[in-house]
Amino acid sequence: MRVVDRAIVRLLPTVPRPVVQRLSARYIAGPTLDDARRTVAGLNAEGKMATVDVLGEVVTRPEEAEAIASAYHSALDAIAGDHLDANVSVKLTALGLQIDLDLCRSLLATVVADATARGIFVRIDMEDSSCTDDTLLLYRELREAGRDNVGVVLQSCLRRTLADADALADLRPSVRICKGIYVEPPSIAYQGRDQIRENFVHVLDALLEAGCHVAVATHDEWLLERALERVAEMSRDEYELQMLLGVREERASQLVAEGHRLRVYVPYGEKWYEYSLRRLQENPSLAGMLAKAAVLRAVPGRN
Ligand code: FDA
Repeated sequence: MRVVDRAIVRLLPTVPRPVVQRLSARYIAGPTLDDARRTVAGLNAEGKMATVDVLGEVVTRPEEAEAIASAYHSALDAIAGDHLDANVSVKLTALGLQIDLDLCRSLLATVVADATARGIFVRIDMEDSSCTDDTLLLYRELREAGRDNVGVVLQSCLRRTLADADALADLRPSVRICKGIYVEPPSIAYQGRDQIRENFVHVLDALLEAGCHVAVATHDEWLLERALERVAEMSRDEYELQMLLGVREERASQLVAEGHRLRVYVPYGEKWYEYSLRRLQENPSLAGMLAKAAVLRAVPGRN
């Protein structure tokens, strides 16, 4: 990220919430499960798969974590009931990871058991580095308990990630590889674009070498090309490409037309704010969007 961009990103928390909501509407299916159902059905009609995320993270009370788990049960019910080509993505802080590891473990187990019964896959998202060890631990526990419909995420910005990929290899895990969105210090994370890209490719190679199923989650054309070179000789079921709702949709359609399996991350729910900030901070047009929003706010009768 360029210095000027960092300055703009720092301004984001001062932007009024209604403006954030308007600017980030493209990234979120809507507030309700019905919004997610419609969005996923539309994506499926375009030949794209989906992964459904119930928005919400870093809950502070057990009841909130239980409510999120319950929302996942409803989402699984909808996916099965509507015969959608979709799985779910779960954030462990939303299931209480920062309240109590055992609470999180037990809520995750119920979500995974429900998904197993319906033949649906569960991807455990990766959050900031304070969650990495616990996330990998809970993932390993599930796999060692025989839950094969669960996958994990590795972030190429973290210096530890290649070692994590090696340590997971005995499980032949299903791994989503992404750059990582959380701001981490240089002591544990690469800061430069090129290093993060290079590590992405190293981790991808290590995962493929270990026979893992990989989900390559990026909109970065340079990385997409490196990934496409690597999967060129593989059968289409051995890997998938992943993108976020509202990002590079035409490129996603092109990849589907070329015969790749592509999954779109579909978040829905009332707790849209944190997710929206993360997406806006990655939008190269953020400065222009904020300038336009400020101009529109200054026009009487607008916003
Ligand atoms: P980069 O940010 O360089 O984007 C490449 C290009 O894509 C940009 O130049 C722009 O054209 C376009 N673009 C990207 N973001 C945009 C936006 N918001 N608005 C408009 N255009 C945009 N991270 C994490 O830490 N844990 C996780 O579990 C996940 N899960 C996850 C799932 C999926 C399906 C995806 C695609 C991504 C994640 N991520 C994630 C986020 C990931 O770590 C990373 O922050 C983003 O994908 C952005 O990085 P890119 O590789 O896309 O490159």
